[in-house]
Parts: sequence; C-alpha cells; structure tokens
Amino acid sequence: MAGPASAAPVFVELAREDDAALRAELVRGLTAPAAHVAPKFLYGPLGSALFDAITRLAEYYPTRTEAAIFAAERDAIARACGRGRPLVDLGAADCAKAAALFDALQPSQYVAVDISVDYVRDALQRLQRCHPALPMLGVGMDFTAALELPPQVGPGPRTLFYPGSSIGNFMPEEALVLLRRVHAACAGGALLIGVDLVKPREVLEAAYADALGVTAAFDLNLLRNVNARLGADFDPRQWRHVAFFDARASRIEMHLEAREALTVRWPGGERRFAGGERIHTENSYKYRRGDFEAMLRDAGFGRTQGWTDARGWFAVFVAQAG
Ligand code: AVJ
Repeated sequence: MAGPASAAPVFVELAREDDAALRAELVRGLTAPAAHVAPKFLYGPLGSALFDAITRLAEYYPTRTEAAIFAAERDAIARACGRGRPLVDLGAADCAKAAALFDALQPSQYVAVDISVDYVRDALQRLQRCHPALPMLGVGMDFTAALELPPQVGPGPRTLFYPGSSIGNFMPEEALVLLRRVHAACAGGALLIGVDLVKPREVLEAAYADALGVTAAFDLNLLRNVNARLGADFDPRQWRHVAFFDARASRIEMHLEAREALTVRWPGGERRFAGGERIHTENSYKYRRGDFEAMLRDAGFGRTQGWTDARGWFAVFVAQAG
C-alpha cells in the first residue's frame, strides 16, 4: 500500500484499579485517628477539569512557569535528553505537555503512562492524527507501585518525563524510591522532571487557596469521589478547604475541616468528626534546588542539569541515567 507511514496507538493495561482495595484504603484512612485520604481521590472527570482550571489561575504559578522554562530552554533540554529516543510520560493525562516537546525531542516513540489506560485513550488518538508517523503506546499502570515498562516500549536509552512537580505529592523517602525506579526505567537515558521550589509563604499559600475558591472546590470534590467509591454520605457543605505551608516539612498541606460535629456513614462503617477536625488530603513538597539534585544523585543519576525561571520559583532538571 502506498502513502505515508501511519501508525495507530497501541494500548496495554498492566494492572486494573482494584475496587475492593481502593475501598479498603479509603476506610483505613477515614477511620485513622488523624483521618486522611490520598490525593489520587481528588481526580476523576470533574476533579481533572477543576485541576485544569487551577492551572489557569493567576495564583497558581507552577504550570505556566514550567511551560515557560520548557519553551525558553527547549534546545538545551533536547540536547541534554538526547533526540530520537522513546519518550515515556509518567501521568500523561491529556498528553499536552509532552506533545509540546515533540518538535524539540524528536522522539522515536511516545509512551503515555497513566493509572488507567482509559484516561489517555482519547488524547492519544487525537495526538496520533497530528503525528501520524510517531509510534504511540498507552500504558495503564500504577507506576507509584512498580515501574515495569511493557516490552512494546522501544529498547535502549529512554527519556522519562515527569513534569508538573507531581513528585511533590510524595514524602521525600517515597520520592526517592520512585526516582530509583525511574532511574532503572531510563535504561541509560535521562529523566526530564519539573520540581516546585521553596519560595515566600504568601506566594505558596495563595497558590493553594485561591481567591475564586477553585482549589477549595477541587479539594471538596474529593468528598464526592469518596461518596461514589465507598457509598459514603459526605455533604461537602459541611466542610471547608484549608491549605498552609509547613516550613519545617517544606510542604503545602491541604485539609478538609469539618464546620460542625458530624458523622459520616458508609456500608459497614462510620466516622464521627468533631467540629474543626480535619481530613488530610494532599501534601505538595517544595524543594531547594541543591536538595533535589542531591536526591537525584541518591537515586543513582549521574550528571544533572537544571534550569529555573528568573524568580527561581520552579526548576526543570535533566538527570542522566547513563
Ligand atoms: C498535580 C500534585 C502537582 O501539588 O501543585 C494543585 C496538585 N493541588 N492544587 C500540586 C494541586 C492543589 C498539584 N500536583
């Protein structure tokens, strides 16, 4: 058959999300003395739309600052990563950040990894139409549990892409474990990662408690997600969003605080909350440049190059695995 080479995305689901395990995890967190629910429960169709709205807020600097660094440093970043390699996007979602780098990186293959392959299916199919000759692979897996890439990923050195300071959701010890796995998955290539940096408290706290209340809606929406997963009866109106910077731990904490004493029920259980009692929903760690570079070295990476914006608010690193 004549005509230009044209690929269709291939999809593999390595581990389906386990409903019973997710429910058990929720019950454990909700009944713990200090109640907590993992930030992955922030997402879903509405949660992802609210997060997208957050990235457009005046107060939420990370997304646009990172994009500006990518745009300003694209050639240096591409040289550091090496062109013509498989590009593995961890937590790809709408694949937009990676797609913006295709021209510079000239990947040999694009691999979109997300917790469920359904989250990347539409985006990958759309993207394939703009890049008909680029082989594309969608992988559904929880890379925070294990990062065993499937055999369909091209051999040899790869570029692992972990933008947005998603690494900030993990405690430093967990982040180190994840970075070690990422190092192995690079197969001698490099990691391209975006990391949010320590900055004045007012700037940080405004980014996580914006004037329009979009972040509050994003946080409160977690309660709706928990209701759907667990069959619980949270009423978001009884809760308020709280966000603050803990300078000692170097992290933003998000919590939902009960406005009054209340009881939440679900099939087989319940939890009483006193007025003012909180559910911890997210940590977002902020690093100093040197500390993050030290962590990359600890994880096994060799030479690292870093770029920041003029204010020093956000950093992009390329760390060599070879
Ligand atoms: C997607 C984890 C990078 O920590 O800034 C945004 C999530 N939470 N506003 C972040 C988030 C509240 C975001 N990450």
